[in-house]
Amino acid sequence: MLHLAFETSCDDTSIALMDDDRVLHMVTRSQLKEHLETQGVVPEVAARLHANVIFDVLHEVLDLGGVTLQDIGYIDCTSEPGLLPSLLVGKTVAKTLAHGLGIPLQWIHHIEGHMFANLLERSPEEIGFPVVVLTVSGGHNEIYLWKSLYEWELLGQTRDDAAGEAFDKVAKAMGLGFPGGPIVEKLASEYTGEFRRIFPVPLLDAKSLDFSFSGLKSAVRREVESRRGANGGELTTDDLREIAFEFEQTMIQVLTTKLHRAAEQTGIQTIMLAGGVSASQSLRLALEKLATSENYRFFAPVKKLYSMDNAAMIGVR
Ligand code: KG4
Ligand code: ZN
Repeated sequence: MLHLAFETSCDDTSIALMDDDRVLHMVTRSQLKEHLETQGVVPEVAARLHANVIFDVLHEVLDLGGVTLQDIGYIDCTSEPGLLPSLLVGKTVAKTLAHGLGIPLQWIHHIEGHMFANLLERSPEEIGFPVVVLTVSGGHNEIYLWKSLYEWELLGQTRDDAAGEAFDKVAKAMGLGFPGGPIVEKLASEYTGEFRRIFPVPLLDAKSLDFSFSGLKSAVRREVESRRGANGGELTTDDLREIAFEFEQTMIQVLTTKLHRAAEQTGIQTIMLAGGVSASQSLRLALEKLATSENYRFFAPVKKLYSMDNAAMIGVR
C-alpha cells in the first residue's frame, strides 16, 4: 500500500513516498547552510525553515511518484524525540493531512526509526534476529538487545553526551564547522601518524554497557587550549588532523568495545549499527574488523543516506 512518511525532528525536512517497506521516492531538504552561522541548530529557526519548505517537499515527492494525496493509504510521522518546534511542524502537517483524507496516522519514535533504517532494502530474514544494536546519533547513544522485529530491551546508554554530540562539540572547540562528525572524520583520515592514545578511553567499569563522553570531550578541549597557547593562536593543520584522529579513534574504541561486550554478555553473534554516527566509514570499518575476528555478522544501513535523519526509516518502522 502506498504511504507517506514525515521526518522533521531536527534540521532535515524529509518526506518519503513508500509502497509498503519499499522506498519509491524520498525528498530531503537540509537546513545545514542556515545553521552554519550559529554552529548548531536553533530550534525556532529550524521550525520556521521546515514550515517554509514542507509543502514544496510534499508536492515534489508526490510529483516524482506521479501520484496524488488521494492515492495515499496511510501516513507515518516522527513523534519524538527531537527539537519540539521542529517536530511540531511535521506533526501538524501529517495530522492535518491524515484527518482531511480520512486515513490512519502512525506516530513513530525517532530512534526506533534509526534502528529500522537497517531494514531498508533488506528483509528481517536477511538480518535474522536477535541482534545487539548500537544507536549513535546527535542526541542518543544506546545499546539495545533487539530480540525480534517488534521487541527490544535497553542494555546500556550514555550518562552524559551522545557520541554525535561529542563529535559536534569537539569540532566546535577546534574551531571547525557543523555538524562535527563528517569534518572530524575527514581531518582524521588525512592524519598519517600512529594512534598514540593521548586521550583517556572512558570504558567505565569492566561490565558496564553505559557510556560517558564528557571527560573525553573536556580532555580534547584542554589539548586544544594547550596547543593554542596563552594568546589563543590558531591550530596548525597538523594539530587539527592529529587531534581529530586521536579523538575519533578513542571514540571508536569505546563504541566498538561496548558493542563487543554486549555481544559477549548476551551471547548474540549479530551486531548492528544505527543513527547518524553510523555514517562514519571509520566506525563501520572498525566494526567490520571486529565482526571478522569474532565471527559475528555485522549490519549497518545499506546507504549512508539511511544513516542520517531521513523519512524512509520512519516509513519502514
Ligand atoms: O541521527 P542524526 O542525523 O541526527 C540526530 O538524530 O541527532 O545524527 C547526527 C549526528 C551528528 O552529531 C553528526 O556529527 C553525526 O551524526 N555524524 C557523524 C558522521 N556523520 C554524521 N559522526 C561521526 N562521523 C561521521 N562521519
Ligand atoms: Zn536521528
